[in-house]
Amino acid sequence: MPNALDPDLRHALAERLRYYTELGIYDFYRRDKMNAVQADAQNEAAAIAGVVEAETSSAPQPELREEMSPRRSAVVAIVREESIFEVLTPKPEQGVVDPVAALKLIREDLGDCTRCKLHKLGRKQIVFGVGNPRAELMFVGEGPGADEDAQGEPFVGRAGQLLNNMIKAMGLRREDVYIANVVKCRPPGNRTPERDECDTCSPFLMRQIAVIKPKVVVALGAVAARNLLAINAPMAELRGRFYDFMPAGVRSSDPSFPEKPWPGAKLAVTYHPAFLLRDPRQKGEAWKDLQMVMKYIGLKPLQKAE
Ligand code: URA
Repeated sequence: MPNALDPDLRHALAERLRYYTELGIYDFYRRDKMNAVQADAQNEAAAIAGVVEAETSSAPQPELREEMSPRRSAVVAIVREESIFEVLTPKPEQGVVDPVAALKLIREDLGDCTRCKLHKLGRKQIVFGVGNPRAELMFVGEGPGADEDAQGEPFVGRAGQLLNNMIKAMGLRREDVYIANVVKCRPPGNRTPERDECDTCSPFLMRQIAVIKPKVVVALGAVAARNLLAINAPMAELRGRFYDFMPAGVRSSDPSFPEKPWPGAKLAVTYHPAFLLRDPRQKGEAWKDLQMVMKYIGLKPLQKAE
């Protein structure tokens, strides 16, 4: 009964709804607990059977888990745990026009982060992001693996080598683009970052994107796609189109960006390179996604991804 709602709660709910409406999310569903439990059980069975690599591998195993889980046909809005107050709180980088300085302020704000449990689960260091602070193209992965944790840079392991080849095939150099992850600390055993970890860390990613103001963001895999878009859908439904993307908490009319108004980015979803290493037959599909991006940015390919 809506009339029985406490006025503060009602106000908070109205604010929350306004926030989701701004993000373009209009439909809400209850989470299907049974599906989640079944998916976890299947993933566990796959890990035991050796289909999904166990704890020792050096890179996360995105998409394979995804492909193993039951397909859900509905696109479901994900309700983030971040508070509206967090979204509305002024950030140190606001009003700072130079993206190098602004990224530095975000990194300083992150500090020696202990906001989520990943800080005490074996991470060696925070992996903030790398690349051109004025990049037109940004890639977003899931979270650091062992190599990234050791070197402090995203995508430096085997998946990173493939990502480098993909970037090269697009006619770009790694230094031309910006690369970051949804979570900045390595999840133990390269497990998928959990919801609370993503919710805690992704505001920093959103702020990085808002500073860089790329033309296109490419979400590498379902975890990145779902966190950026706040929708829950299988890869097959996420790929093959552009989404209009404005990082959560940033508005096109934001008065802190008077120097360089930014209409937001186009967001494309493609397979995670770690998945492509396991199923190279999908490289052609990933290449189609990247060609769509290249066409939008106006890039001519140098060579095909290996
Ligand atoms: N996989 C990711 O998602 N990110 C990295 O940085 C490395 C591997």
